[in-house]
Amino acid sequence: MLQPLLFAFLFFAFVAARQARLAAAGHAPHHYMNRFKIAKRQSGDANTPLMLTNWCPDSVWPAIDSQGGTGPSNTGFELASGDNQTEYVSSDWQGRVWGRTNCTFSGHGGGSACTTGDCGGLEACQGPGAPPATLAEFTLNGGQQQTFYDLSLVDGYNLPMAIVMLPNSNTDLTTLDPSTTNPSCVASAGNLAPPTFNPYTNSQQFLGTDSNSPLPFDTKITAATISQWCPWDLQVTPPSKPANGAYPYPDTKIPRPAFDPCYSACAKYNTDAYCCTGTADERGKCSPNYYSKAAKQVCPDAYSYAYDDQDSTFVQPTGGGFQMIFCPGGRSTDIIGRKGVGVIEHT
Ligand SMILES: *[C@@H]1O[C@H](CO)[C@@H](O)[C@H](O)[C@H]1NC(C)=O
Ligand SMILES: *[C@@H]1O[C@H](CO)[C@@H](O)[C@H](O)[C@H]1NC(C)=O
Repeated sequence: MLQPLLFAFLFFAFVAARQARLAAAGHAPHHYMNRFKIAKRQSGDANTPLMLTNWCPDSVWPAIDSQGGTGPSNTGFELASGDNQTEYVSSDWQGRVWGRTNCTFSGHGGGSACTTGDCGGLEACQGPGAPPATLAEFTLNGGQQQTFYDLSLVDGYNLPMAIVMLPNSNTDLTTLDPSTTNPSCVASAGNLAPPTFNPYTNSQQFLGTDSNSPLPFDTKITAATISQWCPWDLQVTPPSKPANGAYPYPDTKIPRPAFDPCYSACAKYNTDAYCCTGTADERGKCSPNYYSKAAKQVCPDAYSYAYDDQDSTFVQPTGGGFQMIFCPGGRSTDIIGRKGVGVIEHT
């Protein structure tokens, strides 16, 4: 009798201590991005690097939207396959980064210029993009000298993406184990390596890690399941059955395209229950929906719905920069699942 009780007590104490730490850091139990109010500025010390790297076989058009601090000089541009480009933001910057696909800016007639992630048809974005898009979100200084960041599928998924923390010679950060700071989300068939994936043979590095600090990768997703994860009704372009033209619902036998962007249930239906808004805007009143459950399976370290913050927000001392890699390859990381939720809080 004693043991389960003791365990329950320890677990409760752990959760309570964690809540207290998060609250002390100004980290209310909700998507942290909504809780920090950081004023936007036009100019400031923009010396924190955001490196955008494209390992996709096609061009990606990265976009950067600022909610606070000083944004980069270039908020959207073409990044050819294999290229990288570094933009600089202020050390208190808050915002998001995503990749746009299939863009044509000249002569698109004023509507959308990109298939996914479009921002009003502009090349240099002046606001957030259209869902679905995989996001990297940052609050570089959320108070008490702490940086908060995450990968988010809350607005849907378009491209595989990884975040590699750049310590910037900051000793608070160079000492962190990189296998706990660099999450990756790979949910596209063409970009997924087999479950036995090991990038560390021959002393190679991968996403800022090596065999001394190997990233824990998901081992359950297969090539067959990855192409089916997006719920049928949330696909941007669901394939139609050859010959009869009607949408079968759902039909697992119909092959899907390799590039299969996926709306979140919130982005597609915009209901309080799916978006955790209105009467569902409270912890315990908003549960993971069919989309967020599927998203969490393919990308365990990413936000899947608005109250997923306990499992998805990386916290560390300020001073770091970040590299965003589109189509990192390999497999999704499962840092939190395999190492415990505490490892992503470097406080
Ligand atoms: C970025 O691109 C430049 C040239 O395009 C290359 O020399 C450099 O190694 C690249 N850096 C990274 C981190 O990929
Ligand atoms: C759209 O972009 C995706 C991802 O970059 C790519 O796989 C696909 O081939 C592109 N489609 C077209 C029609 O260019």
